Amino acid sequence: MATERMSFDDLPPAVLVGVQSHAGEILRTEMVIQGYNSQIAARISTADGSFFIKGLRADHGRVWTQHREAEVNPYLRGIAPALLWQVEDAGWVLLGFEALDGHHADYSAGSPDLPKVADLLCRLGEVPCPPIELRHAEQRLAAYAAKPTDVAHFAGDSLLHTDLNNENVLVNGPAYLVDWAWASKGAAWLDAAHWVVWLMAAGKQEPRSAEEWAARVPAWRTAAPEAVTAFALATANLWEEIAGVDPDPWTATVFDASRRWAEYRKAG
Ligand SMILES: Nc1ncnc2c1ncn2[C@@H]1O[C@H](COP(=O)(O)OP(=O)(O)OP(=O)(O)O)[C@@H](O)[C@H]1O
Ligand SMILES: [Mg+2]
Repeated sequence: MATERMSFDDLPPAVLVGVQSHAGEILRTEMVIQGYNSQIAARISTADGSFFIKGLRADHGRVWTQHREAEVNPYLRGIAPALLWQVEDAGWVLLGFEALDGHHADYSAGSPDLPKVADLLCRLGEVPCPPIELRHAEQRLAAYAAKPTDVAHFAGDSLLHTDLNNENVLVNGPAYLVDWAWASKGAAWLDAAHWVVWLMAAGKQEPRSAEEWAARVPAWRTAAPEAVTAFALATANLWEEIAGVDPDPWTATVFDASRRWAEYRKAG
């Protein structure tokens, strides 16, 4: 479910003072509308530059995702915007990133962004899994697997982003991946598989062309066909559950894409 977003300017004065101690005097703030999970998502301009800030109340049930993003960020140079500072004060946890310009990746067929996203996933595949606490892909998918033995396909030692929504990919020259809240550890090919679902949902691509893009990522080629099918089935089950409780039309679109992919895999 979406978390209600509030204006940066309505943060407690102590938090704003904390931000200014890192970022300089705030000249302009702009609420970012994309994304659902942060109570605060804003771009600010100061005398020192531009910053992207996301934040949750310290007592929010998902505040651990902010800490996870902070922990993983130093390992993602060239892949994610750098985390520059954090403010934890007056009941808030805020992360201050370098602000990226550019646009959200266009996942539709023929988009010039597609090779850039493939390149981004290739580069991510070369990042060693950092020695920090991460979610485990096989545990996250366990409740959705079509059969219990499928879960073993998803285990592995690779660092994964797991939310390849096109609004989490900013293209500014190369492509960058934001929103590492759900960073996980698992089989190397899983991010390419997540990309397939979003290429279909956000880019309206057919399963075959979406898989052709995924195949540009070396890790995809390490996946056994039955492992990919197991993932497609589990993902369709996961999105069916989300679409059942979340009225946002987007969830229905992603469920439909994942269901069509699962059917394509079963037929093949
Ligand atoms: N460093 C950055 N520079 C500029 N814009 C950014 C940056 N990081 C994120 N954004 C923009 O802000 C949006 C929301 O950020 P992000 O996805 O990290 O937060 P979120 O609200 O938790 O999102 P979600 O609901 O997808 O989990 C992104 O879709 C992107 O458009
Ligand atoms: Mg996001």
